[in-house]
Amino acid sequence: MVVRKSVYNEQVFNHCNIAPMINELTITRPDDWHLHLREGDALRDTTPHAARQFGRAIIMPNLRPPVTTVELALDYRKAILDTLPAGQPFNPLMALYLTNSTTADEVRRVAENEQTIAFKLYPAGATTNSDSGVTDIQKIYPIFAEMEKHEVPLLVHGEVTDGTVDIFDREKAFIDRHLIAITRAFPALRVVLEHATTAEAIQFVSDAPETIAATITAHHLLFNRNSLLAGGIRPHYYCLPILKREKHREALVKAATSGNPKFFLGTDSAPHAVGAKESDCGCAGCYTAYAAIELYATAFESANALNRLEGFASHHGADFYRLPRNNETITLKKSTWKIPPNYSFADGKVIPLMAGEELTWKLC
Ligand code: NCD
Ligand code: ZN
Repeated sequence: MVVRKSVYNEQVFNHCNIAPMINELTITRPDDWHLHLREGDALRDTTPHAARQFGRAIIMPNLRPPVTTVELALDYRKAILDTLPAGQPFNPLMALYLTNSTTADEVRRVAENEQTIAFKLYPAGATTNSDSGVTDIQKIYPIFAEMEKHEVPLLVHGEVTDGTVDIFDREKAFIDRHLIAITRAFPALRVVLEHATTAEAIQFVSDAPETIAATITAHHLLFNRNSLLAGGIRPHYYCLPILKREKHREALVKAATSGNPKFFLGTDSAPHAVGAKESDCGCAGCYTAYAAIELYATAFESANALNRLEGFASHHGADFYRLPRNNETITLKKSTWKIPPNYSFADGKVIPLMAGEELTWKLC
């Protein structure tokens, strides 16, 4: 395995009071450990966007119907690969959707197949297409035990669905009510708290044993809830877990740029057709895959921490999943470009996060 160092020199950076202007950044090809590609015609638009930058991605299973078996996951994987541009290396790793009736046999089948990597826990009703999700987490403890035994990681949408809990507090409530208990009951189970959004989540993961990690999205690193709600309601900034207040964004930036291997890249890029977002009951999900690594580079640059991007984007996730790091590299250049107003999406359009705005990093 060849792990190429960034051309960016960490030592020089660390000994300067003023961050030097970096114009080019070469890092090991990153991976996306949380991605929604959707299905059908949409794949022709979403797969190439993800594959231009990422070597691998964990593909989320919240389709209709959900991807609940290895057989369905492998069919879905094949459909994704059919839309991959020729010569583009991209390895979709499939997550299966946990339901009340997931079996021990299915856990074993996931463990035996290199192309299926984990189970995703959606509390029923927590987010897009989660109505087949788990209704009583305690009842699937026997399945967690199988996952622990077969070393299959558990990926968690960590929000309670209790209507009496304020939407901004649902992640913390999930940690307090469920995650602490799960991690205590299954000490060898590897758990990823997906799309962590709060200071409390960062604290929990930081203090937890090394079996517990978290993904962090680019949009939660770049934006707080003002971007969603101040001066008008902006549906393309609406996602779940919802954007939080600034102190939480700051905690996420600190964790992502800390070098702590428990934190790694997961875009949660989740496209919806424009009409499904701009509606009286709009869907949750931000579309970021079109320029995910550029968005992360922007966030890391703002924190004067470009030297930490490679670990977060290309090393920590692979290490957690016990997979080799990618051999290839990608190069980003300082170059200002305008994000288009929309991208094609199946027979319609998707509005990307930050549509019409400028980014100053560009993947070569
Ligand atoms: C995701 C989607 O649309 O599939 N939406 C989102 O806001 N993140 C589902 C999810 O990961 O919660
Ligand atoms: Zn997601």
